[in-house]
Amino acid sequence: MTNNMQDEFIATVSHELRTPLTSIRGFSQTLLNSWDKIDDDNKKKFIKIIEDQSNRLIHLVENVLSVSKMNAGCDVLKKVDVNSVIKKIIPMFTEQYKTRNFKLELAANLPFSRLDEDKFEQIMTNLIDNAAKYSENGKTVTVSTMPDGNLILIKVKDEGVGIKKEDYGKIFKKFSRLENHLTSTTQGNGLGLYITKQLVEKMNGKIEFESREGEGTTFLVKVPIYNQEEALRCSRMS
Ligand SMILES: Nc1ncnc2c1ncn2[C@@H]1O[C@H](COP(=O)(O)OP(=O)(O)OP(=O)(O)O)[C@@H](O)[C@H]1O
Ligand SMILES: [Mg+2]
Repeated sequence: MTNNMQDEFIATVSHELRTPLTSIRGFSQTLLNSWDKIDDDNKKKFIKIIEDQSNRLIHLVENVLSVSKMNAGCDVLKKVDVNSVIKKIIPMFTEQYKTRNFKLELAANLPFSRLDEDKFEQIMTNLIDNAAKYSENGKTVTVSTMPDGNLILIKVKDEGVGIKKEDYGKIFKKFSRLENHLTSTTQGNGLGLYITKQLVEKMNGKIEFESREGEGTTFLVKVPIYNQEEALRCSRMS
């Protein structure tokens, strides 16, 4: 990112931070000032809004932080077992999206990848979050891994709303949310996929997707297999 892009990015992010913060403050003030006048159902509703908005803030802040740390050199790329990163984060989603099913199809004896583990976790978090968020209750999200030549292929497949052909060009643009009935009823900043693509490419990987409107979407991420020589060359350079 150039300095100009960074300024614009920060300005927009600050704006996106304000909305959930205002909501958290508003509902906290209402609860504090009118506690005795609000019935239990409404108290619960307001606290749930505070929780949802806090989650939204955390998601946004994590994404922004991962971009700001993106310019590190090749020595941050380490030996990573992508299967264990996926296994580690899945419980967070089964907890958050209790009405979706999560299925893992992880290849046995998968080679290590050469990645920054935190960033890979952020990539997976964004893709699995979208897969669950843009699917109806009862649908299944499948995460699979497999070797693919000198790369490792990770697929995040959903049975959700899908993406219209005319929206294909917008999907990785920053702050773009597409029009579908789930986008209007869910929270999001339109930042996840923009950041995901940057992170994948920064780590010498590739990201693509396949989608059918009304049937579902699959995101495909390819990352390099860990290679001893490459790692040595990098350590000599830095
Ligand atoms: N798996 C998917 N199925 C259908 N539509 C998707 C899927 N993933 C992303 N989209 C569409 O692409 C848009 C951009 O996705 P992105 O993850 O960048 O933003 P977001 O989910 O809206 O917000 P954020 O991730 O920043 O919280 C979404 O708003 C949604 O309309
Ligand atoms: Mg998202």
